[in-house]
Amino acid sequence: MFEHIDAYPGDPILSLNEDFAKDSRDDKVNLSIGIYYDNEGRIPVMRAVREAEAQLLAEPAAKPYLPMAGFAQYRDAVQSLVFGDDSTARAEGRIATVQTLGGSGALKVGADFIKRYFPDSQVWVSDPTWDNHRFIFERAGFTVGTYPYYDESTGGLRFDAMLSAIRDLPARSVVLLHACCHNPTGVDLNDAQWVRLIEAIKARGLLPFIDMAYQGFGAGLNADAFAIRELVRQNVPAFVANSFSKNFSLYGERCGALSVICESADSAARVLGQLTGAVRANYSNPPTHGAKIVARVLTTPALRQAWEDELASMCTRIARMRGEIHARLRGNVPDAMLARYLEQRGMFTYTGLSAAQVDRLRERHGVYLIRSGRMCVAALNDRNVEAAASSIGEVLATEIV
Ligand code: LMR
Repeated sequence: MFEHIDAYPGDPILSLNEDFAKDSRDDKVNLSIGIYYDNEGRIPVMRAVREAEAQLLAEPAAKPYLPMAGFAQYRDAVQSLVFGDDSTARAEGRIATVQTLGGSGALKVGADFIKRYFPDSQVWVSDPTWDNHRFIFERAGFTVGTYPYYDESTGGLRFDAMLSAIRDLPARSVVLLHACCHNPTGVDLNDAQWVRLIEAIKARGLLPFIDMAYQGFGAGLNADAFAIRELVRQNVPAFVANSFSKNFSLYGERCGALSVICESADSAARVLGQLTGAVRANYSNPPTHGAKIVARVLTTPALRQAWEDELASMCTRIARMRGEIHARLRGNVPDAMLARYLEQRGMFTYTGLSAAQVDRLRERHGVYLIRSGRMCVAALNDRNVEAAASSIGEVLATEIV
């Protein structure tokens, strides 16, 4: 019966993370998966999360199914965080939001919805992008192409090439964009570039799908959502996936949401209905626990302040570790590859190391990066940064055949 089923080759990120767990070396260093670790190498339970969780546990409650669209208070809090309290589209009831299983769940629900109502559209992702973008949209039945994005020679953005490729796409093409802290490169558009890109998207009648998995890890909670606020300002219908995995350190609770900016409250009601249908057909309804924590924190002023403060201190620590590894690599890494450790934003730096060099780092030194050369700088700490830097120095000094 199952003879024709081929072996799963594994996932470039999650399978590698599982391999790391099995590695028996004491001095191994995991800079692969996009998870924030504190300076002790632990995944933090944020103070506000701990407090909200304690409050919820002290309030015994039955655990019925949530509505298919999710926990109402959570959906409302998501809209306010992602679109801003003063969002006109929100006031006009033009945003349809459903709770989803993390950001990936949002992408999948959105992909199913788009396939049903825009069956002839193709999806376009940045070159490169997070590997799972391609997997999710291909499995939902789309052909996925790429638009130019990263410039390996400068470690920056190919904005003109990106803009001109997007201007050439057929109407109703789906353009997947990262709101901030681009994964894997850490290279973002500035505000002026977003304005121009969104004008082009509007002029061509394209469907932007914004993935915001790192809100708060770039320039701040509001600044990181600039592209989304600009889409609203320019009146462009759009899909927005957001996730609380990273900024709440709630990875396993699968807290995300999908929002669709619509042209009217009437179309938003119909879109919401069909998103709800897509949720029902995928997993029926979402889980309760994480959504209640996030809603409690976002809507309780003292918890909200504690959360924002701790998130800001996580960003400060990442910036410090960027400085630490940069200082240790100076002299060992060509200058052209060095500045990016300081300049790229969010959890990642795209090191420019080849797959063969990454393999050597892992096999010989127990230092794990994604084979694309992506390093999670948010996992560096005072104890592992020296080993990471000296291993990279050794690998760069070695001729690899
Ligand atoms: C990552 O990019 O490493 C994270 O978003 C984890 C994942 O699911 O790939």
